Amino acid sequence: MPAITASAPGKIILFGEHAVVYGQPAIAVPVHQVQARVVVKAQPGSAGINVLAPDISLSSTLAKLPLEDAVAKAIHLTLDSLGIKEPPACSLIISSTIPLAAGLGSGAAVSVAIIRALSGFMGHSLPDDTVNEIAFEVEKLHHGTPSGIDNTVITYGKPVYFIKGEEIKTIEISQPFTLVIGDTGIVTPTSETVGDVRRSYEAEPALFENYFKMCGMIATNAAISIQNSRIPSLGPLMNDNHDILSKMGVSNPELDRLVEAAQSAGALGAKLSGGGRGGNMIALVDSQSASAVESALIQAGASRTIISTVQ
Ligand code: MEV
Repeated sequence: MPAITASAPGKIILFGEHAVVYGQPAIAVPVHQVQARVVVKAQPGSAGINVLAPDISLSSTLAKLPLEDAVAKAIHLTLDSLGIKEPPACSLIISSTIPLAAGLGSGAAVSVAIIRALSGFMGHSLPDDTVNEIAFEVEKLHHGTPSGIDNTVITYGKPVYFIKGEEIKTIEISQPFTLVIGDTGIVTPTSETVGDVRRSYEAEPALFENYFKMCGMIATNAAISIQNSRIPSLGPLMNDNHDILSKMGVSNPELDRLVEAAQSAGALGAKLSGGGRGGNMIALVDSQSASAVESALIQAGASRTIISTVQ
């Protein structure tokens, strides 16, 4: 059996995080500069599957991993889907350049790469819809009520306009645009902010329902702007989305500082991206402002920046 390698990109949410959990539309795009990578190769002489993730010092047999471990769950669900009860002896090696718990979809990307590499190695590459379904099941371990946007944008590797439970719509980008992504360096699990938003929503349902609707309208207007190549109009929509997310309690001083630094350095707009309270923010730039915005983010404390073209 030849070794099989599969990669999956990171992602950012352009518009609509958190509100998307409550049925509002959101837009997400893949970030190909960062990747999760999985290699599966035969390991004659051993038994079962050996799982190795040197970046997080993981070295274990599948049998010894708890069933609620995300990597183990991705492997078990893939084998179930293929009807394989006793897999041949092999090692599954995971590596990733996607920062953990930073809003860039590291968990979903690792799942997608595992499912593709393992099913390819077993000689039955699973179709995208099945890959997406399995990755969604694994996402439920990361936080109980995922919308499914992360696994969807990462599985299909294309910009998506996403509404929970509805058919997947990819977005054609007629005019590419550039984002600078700035990392606060603060690690915050999505489960934490999703849980806090839920508690706030339960305490003040009318107020939060209103926030979610406003985020949904922003995402819909943004999709129309992207379709009509009105890219500069995305900037004010990003600023508005950030303000609502702040009111929802998922920004923090570090994210606000990076957003303000990007705006002052000439970005067309900026916002936090993903779960929030740490992780990454994004700024929309044009060719004149890109390097000034990147320098301003580093000066304001960003632990790293990525320039990514959405196309
Ligand atoms: C995380 O990338 C986006 C959230 O909206 C959670 C979700 O959609 O599952 C915060």
